[in-house]
Amino acid sequence: MLDLRHFSGADLRTLIEEEAAEWNRELHWDYSASAEMILRYADSRILPGYALHERGSISAYSFFVYEGNKAVIGDCFASPTLAEERIELQQHLLVHVIETLQQTPGITRIEAQLLLQMSGTLASPFDDEGFQRYRRLFMNVAARKLYKKGGQERPPGIKLQIWQEAHFQPASNLITRCYAGHVDSLINDQYRTASGSLRFLNNIVRFPGCGSFEPTASFVATDEASGQMIGLILCSRVRSDMGHVTQICVVPQYRGTGLGRLLLAASAEQMDRLGARNITLTVTEPNKPAVDLYRGLGFETERTFDAFVWES
Ligand SMILES: CC(C)(COP(=O)(O)OP(=O)(O)OC[C@H]1O[C@@H](n2cnc3c(N)ncnc32)[C@H](O)[C@@H]1OP(=O)(O)O)[C@@H](O)C(=O)NCCC(=O)NCCS
Repeated sequence: MLDLRHFSGADLRTLIEEEAAEWNRELHWDYSASAEMILRYADSRILPGYALHERGSISAYSFFVYEGNKAVIGDCFASPTLAEERIELQQHLLVHVIETLQQTPGITRIEAQLLLQMSGTLASPFDDEGFQRYRRLFMNVAARKLYKKGGQERPPGIKLQIWQEAHFQPASNLITRCYAGHVDSLINDQYRTASGSLRFLNNIVRFPGCGSFEPTASFVATDEASGQMIGLILCSRVRSDMGHVTQICVVPQYRGTGLGRLLLAASAEQMDRLGARNITLTVTEPNKPAVDLYRGLGFETERTFDAFVWES
């Protein structure tokens, strides 16, 4: 077990290429932009984490990032060539990562969402340290099916607009309102404040970690009478033929009127025009209104994974 900062991008490249192949196969995700970012950080020797180094190459790694008093475990991956040892080695890495973070002065919260790892497989190091675990679903639907099923009927008095820079501020207030008391704000504490939601939006819109943002397939809904923003959907392209909904929310007073369905249909229609065959998203399993909406529109669960949260 070695400090990841001892290694350069060149040392990590083979492992990251194996990881990119898995992202592509399992999640239909072109991981190359994220991979390049990780390799650049490694080259600058500023990526905190641990690596297992065997027979001259890195066979597994895990890294984390700090955001104020919070640490986010960004990844944990082991080479498929490790076969049956794979899970055990990843758990071993996570034990060290968790211990390091819990002992870091000033860190009061740790979050992790490991999309490539099926729910339960890496849970024990987190369970042993008192993390909360939330099962999440990775869902997928054909873009055409979604926009046909979603329907085009707009609730009266509501206007949809394509995402623009001017929407950042009102959208961050909207997200905070929509997630007050919501299970997802237990998983991601950024949703709890407007400044946190603004950071979330910045990450989605400006950085490639969650795919490349598609402004023309991202919409805000406004109540024409009051001029208030009442809902939004954000969509990114995660592979040339795949769209991914990174955010959808509607303020409580307007829920159940078909707006969520309309936003999904509008986004899917535009992604289809841009060449995407399918649309994916992730949702927390106990978020029943959202899961029911997606299932009703034809989304199917392809994988399950876990979100973990620890607070001191
Ligand atoms: C999920 C969300 C965006 C749905 O938006 P919405 O505008 O209420 O959705 P719609 O009105 O289009 O609902 C479509 C379907 O879901 C059902 N539905 C809506 N609200 C529901 C609720 N509270 N409980 C059960 N079903 C519900 C509707 O009955 C409708 O089904 P039907 O067409 O068969 O009658 C909204 O609930 C929300 O913003 N939730 C908080 C944020 C969130 O969870 N976002 C998703 C994260 S993955």
